[in-house]
Amino acid sequence: MKFAFSEISLPKRGSLAVPVFADNTLSPMAEEVNDITDGVIIRAMETSRFKGKKGDILEILAPRDMDVSRVILFGMGEPEELTQGDFENLGGRLTGKLNGAGARNVTVVLDGLESCDIRDNEAAAHVAYGAKLGAYRFTKFKTEDDENEPSMQRMTVACKASSGARKAFADLEAIADGVFLTRDLVSEPANSLYPESFADRCRALSDLGVDVEVLDEDKMHRLGMGALLGVGQGSARESQMVIMRWNGAPAKKSKKPIAFVGKGVCFDTGGISLKPGPGMEEMKWDMGGAGTVTGLMKALAGRKAKVNVIGVVALVENMPDGNAQRPGDIVTSMSGQTIEILNTDAEGRLVLADALWYTQERFAPELIVDLATLTGAIIIALGHENAGLFSNNDALADQIFASGKAVGEGVWRFPLQPEYAKMVKSPVADLQNIGTGGRGAGSIVAAEFLQKFVNDVPWAHIDIAGMAWSKKDTAVVPKGGTGYGVRLLDNFVRQNHEGK
Ligand code: BES
Ligand code: MN
Ligand code: ZN
Repeated sequence: MKFAFSEISLPKRGSLAVPVFADNTLSPMAEEVNDITDGVIIRAMETSRFKGKKGDILEILAPRDMDVSRVILFGMGEPEELTQGDFENLGGRLTGKLNGAGARNVTVVLDGLESCDIRDNEAAAHVAYGAKLGAYRFTKFKTEDDENEPSMQRMTVACKASSGARKAFADLEAIADGVFLTRDLVSEPANSLYPESFADRCRALSDLGVDVEVLDEDKMHRLGMGALLGVGQGSARESQMVIMRWNGAPAKKSKKPIAFVGKGVCFDTGGISLKPGPGMEEMKWDMGGAGTVTGLMKALAGRKAKVNVIGVVALVENMPDGNAQRPGDIVTSMSGQTIEILNTDAEGRLVLADALWYTQERFAPELIVDLATLTGAIIIALGHENAGLFSNNDALADQIFASGKAVGEGVWRFPLQPEYAKMVKSPVADLQNIGTGGRGAGSIVAAEFLQKFVNDVPWAHIDIAGMAWSKKDTAVVPKGGTGYGVRLLDNFVRQNHEGK
């Protein structure tokens, strides 16, 4: 789908979408359409449940005395209360509706928004952004024409400041491209996306100016990454670690980079502690954290963010095999801490242990944020509405929370404290990879384990097990890989690390 921005005028073809506010208050363009059609708008509203509430939609086909083929009224409630997310949802919902109707192009008029806090150009850009995010499909493995192929080709958003809208949209498109890369990676199955092919996808970011370096198993052995390598040792695929660097900060401001680290378990069978069969196919998206970090790097490079960022993804496949790691094995991590493996299905924390340690030792970053589909327990706690947030730094946690709120990708913070940390002490090694408390506090215990590998660097861990994949379509997130976290962390970087 293509997007354009224009000044406000009555379109001559396609569909026209116009806003209506609370209690059926018409926008100027809705008013004009009502006049041309001799009152059809008002009569249509009266004969339906449409009240101009946010989210209400009413379609009028073949309106009389007009060139357009349909008029869609969209409710916007009270303009003072509108948020960016409302405009995105509008774009996404309109596109869904028009695709269902087989329409090809639409002009969305944004007028009557004088009392809205968001400027016209921003609002218009976010309508297009929402449409773009919602129109994504994962089609890589479709060879036959799809009868449900989206019909929409073009959306024009008309507002008072259309050149400003075009500018604002350019940045948002770069972010959407990052989100789409994450969705592609998360949805791709493990026979085609495995550590080495994932590393190739990372290498492709060099086209945008990202420096990409790949550590193979030999290099990781030499670095002493026994925790990560132990997870991958039952797989026929080589484990990989990819380091991506975007140096966008002005040279004179060369300060410490900020770092993002992602769990990239390209498939998680559980290993010798094998998972049950039903639903196991979902574990193709156990590389969601790495997918988000990679998409984030693409977004930041794509919009030329003025910041120095490191993205590290730890890529392995967790398989049962004659050579696989056993329960009871003791491995030595790069940090020197030894770990007793009590359950080979608690592998994400092992992979992250070495990735986190490596990142803090090599780059001395200002902060580290890791993302991981780490625990089923986080889904029990939060369902699919928020990711779990864990941090050793209140200011960092607050910033991430605020960014999540701003972009509609929520996080909710959990506690870390010594009583939980004790639960990963092993009687025979320094640490053990599952807690002593049975199933209690599973997500917190996992986070405490990670904390052993970050020393005093400000660090946050985001458990995205409930968020990386969605089984239902929403306005801006189709089912499948969601791309969760790219928008959140892009906003976090923009708000806190790009200076003005
Ligand atoms: N990748 C899983 C966590 C997961 C579960 C993600 C469901 C998405 C949906 C992780 O590696 C895992 O298996 N965790 C175990 C830990 C347990 C053995 C301590 C879990 O959550 O059951
Ligand atoms: Mn597992
Ligand atoms: Zn896993």
